[in-house]
Amino acid sequence: MISLREVIEVERSIEACFRYVADFRTTVEWDATAYSASKTTEEPVGLGSEFSLLCRAGPTSVSIQYTIVEYTPWQSIVLEGKSRWFTVRDVITFETRDASTTRITYCADFTYRFGLRTLAQKTEAAMRALGRKSLLGLTRALEDNNPSPAASPTTAKRDKNLFTALKCFTRAGYRTGRRTWAPMSTDMAEKHVVLTGASAGLGFETAVALLEAGATLTLVIRDPNKVTSMQAALQERTGRQADRVELADLSLLSHVNALSERLLSANRPIDVLINNAGALFNDYCQTSEGIETSAALLLLSPWRLTEAVHPLLAHHDTPARVINVVSGGMYTQKLQCESLVMSEDDYRGSVAYARAKRALTVLTELWSAQWRDDRIVVNAMHPGWADTPGVQGALPGFRRLTHRVLRSSQEGADTIVWLARAREADKTSGQLFLDREPRTTHLRQRTLESAEERAALQPWLTQIYSTLDLAEST
Ligand SMILES: NC(=O)c1ccc[n+]([C@@H]2O[C@H](COP(=O)([O-])OP(=O)(O)OC[C@H]3O[C@@H](n4cnc5c(N)ncnc54)[C@H](OP(=O)(O)O)[C@@H]3O)[C@@H](O)[C@H]2O)c1
Repeated sequence: MISLREVIEVERSIEACFRYVADFRTTVEWDATAYSASKTTEEPVGLGSEFSLLCRAGPTSVSIQYTIVEYTPWQSIVLEGKSRWFTVRDVITFETRDASTTRITYCADFTYRFGLRTLAQKTEAAMRALGRKSLLGLTRALEDNNPSPAASPTTAKRDKNLFTALKCFTRAGYRTGRRTWAPMSTDMAEKHVVLTGASAGLGFETAVALLEAGATLTLVIRDPNKVTSMQAALQERTGRQADRVELADLSLLSHVNALSERLLSANRPIDVLINNAGALFNDYCQTSEGIETSAALLLLSPWRLTEAVHPLLAHHDTPARVINVVSGGMYTQKLQCESLVMSEDDYRGSVAYARAKRALTVLTELWSAQWRDDRIVVNAMHPGWADTPGVQGALPGFRRLTHRVLRSSQEGADTIVWLARAREADKTSGQLFLDREPRTTHLRQRTLESAEERAALQPWLTQIYSTLDLAEST
């Protein structure tokens, strides 16, 4: 048997340390050998949770299946791991040193299968070195002191070529991106997040991840019949539910106004607002308020909601964050206000969608500059191509062709979660992100808008809003 024992001390609360370590998916962020980790049981992390890890082992890799066999919150966790070469028992204990410091003692006992003991003896020194390196990694992860976001030179180079930029939209792009990610251990307890479009796809996965991180959620969905099932699904995955569910059809500005009124009268400061709800409408349709639906849902709605709840976002101790979920489709379109609301004659769903997302990206940049003194950071992200109900319903042909390379909803949602959660993500504003890195907003010269075209956007939004028939107000 090889027994490793390491002790670290970090300036984090015992609860934050316990929660981070108990979720063994985080091993990819700190373990010197783990390069893939997933939770294979659906329930929240606790007694009986199982994790599947892939770890480098010299020139090869080894798969380890871990089970939490003892779970005593804020005190200790015991995991048993099985691989084809060894079994391992990890005993991790947590103690409060003083008001702000936690001591973590990590013991791992490896028992090698018969016939491999000699190999084990030969590799013992290397194992000890890896154990020390892993615990240094854990210290760094829990210190949560990552550098400000910046595009790596490789990413900047990829964005200069259409083909390599598009390749980043795929699952392979996500996997390449994550190799260089810093750990994310920020606790979101006390953080109030308002998230639209939470009933499915990226929004639902974002809600799951933010509940796991301890956030308090106000979720906005349109279908009253989905409230119970959504809350039950969140409970099953995380052991928690949204604090509040608000109903609004966000393609109707009267609903957006009513929602804003409710949020303002509740008077609860918003730490993070995520404008995620969206859909691609293949067929032309108008809302009952008299405007083409893509423009209403994808642009006017997040514009109106964000402007209206500005008082709840402004002047926090730490900057509030607005996250606009846009789309890589916007790379095909240039901002031109007069073509944002398409007529039935020239309507193409993907074009209307892309134009609205382009405008929301420009709005992100404008708000970022305008609200700097209010301590509000505004960023946009696009998820790449993710296999969500939205894509399945609106783009069946595209999905058929690309299903092998599509990201999962979780992978698509990752950068939304990172922008909402990571401590360093409020150090930059007015950027477009993919896979936790700022990306170019233009892949083609022809989509660059002029200063005049940018300046025209907000007056245009105000003007078009004034033409809507809001008599249907709820
Ligand atoms: N998946 C991708 O590859 C991809 C790529 C680029 C951008 N995006 C963007 O990512 C965001 C999420 O998309 P997704 O793929 O997760 O789509 P999804 O699976 O269709 O989920 C969209 C969410 O928005 C809600 N929603 C739609 N129309 C609404 C309305 N009028 N009022 C209120 N809520 C409404 C939906 O509610 P219901 O459950 O009631 O329908 C659902 O919760 C969208 O903004 C989309 O444009 C996605």
